[in-house]
Amino acid sequence: MPGLLLGDEAPNFEAETTQGRIRFHDFLGDSWGILFSHPRDFTPVCTTELGRAAKLAPEFRKRNVKMIALSIDSVQDHLSWSKDINAYNGEQPKEELPFPIIADANRELAVKLGMLDPDEQDKDGMPLTARVVFIFGPDKKLKLSILYPATTGRNFDEILRVVDSLQLTAYKKVATPVDWKPGDSVMVAPTLPDEEAKKLFPKGVFTKDLPSGKKYLRYTPQPE
Ligand code: BEZ
Repeated sequence: MPGLLLGDEAPNFEAETTQGRIRFHDFLGDSWGILFSHPRDFTPVCTTELGRAAKLAPEFRKRNVKMIALSIDSVQDHLSWSKDINAYNGEQPKEELPFPIIADANRELAVKLGMLDPDEQDKDGMPLTARVVFIFGPDKKLKLSILYPATTGRNFDEILRVVDSLQLTAYKKVATPVDWKPGDSVMVAPTLPDEEAKKLFPKGVFTKDLPSGKKYLRYTPQPE
């Protein structure tokens, strides 16, 4: 079955993009990476998404995350569409965006990565790309995937929030609870014994009493 599962290594594909030909692993280098797909150029929801992604590019850069988009049209179409995206953002209608867009006109990558949405088709009855987000760690392994249908735009603030959670939990023995935001308390990883948790989190570990008597809700202030 095509597609990527958590822990899979990013395929080292070659592709034409709006910033030249790339080999994916070289593009990622030692950084984190986000690959996000779009159904088609010159479509309304995609235009708003790419506009938002462009505005948030400095935030991704701050977090050492390289951004790359994919849509099933040509480089020329992508460049022309980029002018609309910049204009939508209230900027000069230039062809440059702060990230490349992969030209996957023959859908080769979209098929390989399991990105097609069978419910949304072009005029020839060919499926369009769904709204996939893949986030890769510096080890090039898939850390998170999100899959939305073509008709539902994503929330890029949420994507930044999950990057913050992924990066925190990659380096500290914690997990982030529901609706967590940077700066909120975090949960001590369930696998960490109490004694070790006390040593590892000098700001304190706070346990919430529960009817079961089990002490598994262990909070600690977000570690530095
Ligand atoms: C859009 O980007 O607006 C869109 C694309 C394909 C299907 C539905 C909406």
